[in-house]
Amino acid sequence: MEYLTVALAKGRLAKDTMKRLRAAGMADAVDMDSRKLVFRDEIDEIEYLLVKPIDVVTYVNKGVADIGVVGKDIILEQDLDVYELLDLQFGKCAFAVAGFPGTELYGPKKVLKIACKYPNITKKYFAGKREIETIYLNGSVELAPLMNMSDCIVDLVETGSTLKENGLVVLEKMFDIQAKIIGNRTSYQFCYDKIQNFIKAVESEVNDNVTDYLWE
Ligand code: PRP
Repeated sequence: MEYLTVALAKGRLAKDTMKRLRAAGMADAVDMDSRKLVFRDEIDEIEYLLVKPIDVVTYVNKGVADIGVVGKDIILEQDLDVYELLDLQFGKCAFAVAGFPGTELYGPKKVLKIACKYPNITKKYFAGKREIETIYLNGSVELAPLMNMSDCIVDLVETGSTLKENGLVVLEKMFDIQAKIIGNRTSYQFCYDKIQNFIKAVESEVNDNVTDYLWE
């Protein structure tokens, strides 16, 4: 029996992902709160893998998962070869350069120090615009300018409350992102019907549950 293997991201997108999948009549067997990592839906013949967001693209790129649900932030940062199959209309955030009000991004400073969880996106964004040094942090990036470790940050802004509570503002909006379904190129050829059935089931729920951008 050929199961369709779907990688789901734990963390920020988990709740909305489960809401859409359940509404589409899928993923009943999945328990995001448990420590179990593999769940099988024997009726629909779907196997779900629960992985860290940053790893979803790797599982799909390697073909271990046929498809995956993940934020565009991770897709851009990983820059691995996968198909982007469907915009999910949730997990909407902006990528932004943020810092203390009045911070000059293009001022006389030779090198701008930027703390971030997304060094590849940050370097690509500033390439040819401005000389920068990235300082990689794994979370709570907003702390870096507060402690004078960086001039500013590049990070996701969802509601804007983390910036606000730390006295920081958006200095330059970069681009919008949202959650997506991605697919492995080979799986897309060989499991086309199963992947299309999954996407069609989710798509109708997605269109009935469009979430707005919150941060502006
Ligand atoms: C994300 C992001 C910001 C925050 C933005 O962090 O990196 O810090 O959420 O959300 P807001 O605009 O609604 O305040 P996350 O909560 O994923 O944790 P982290 O800081 O540990 O990475």
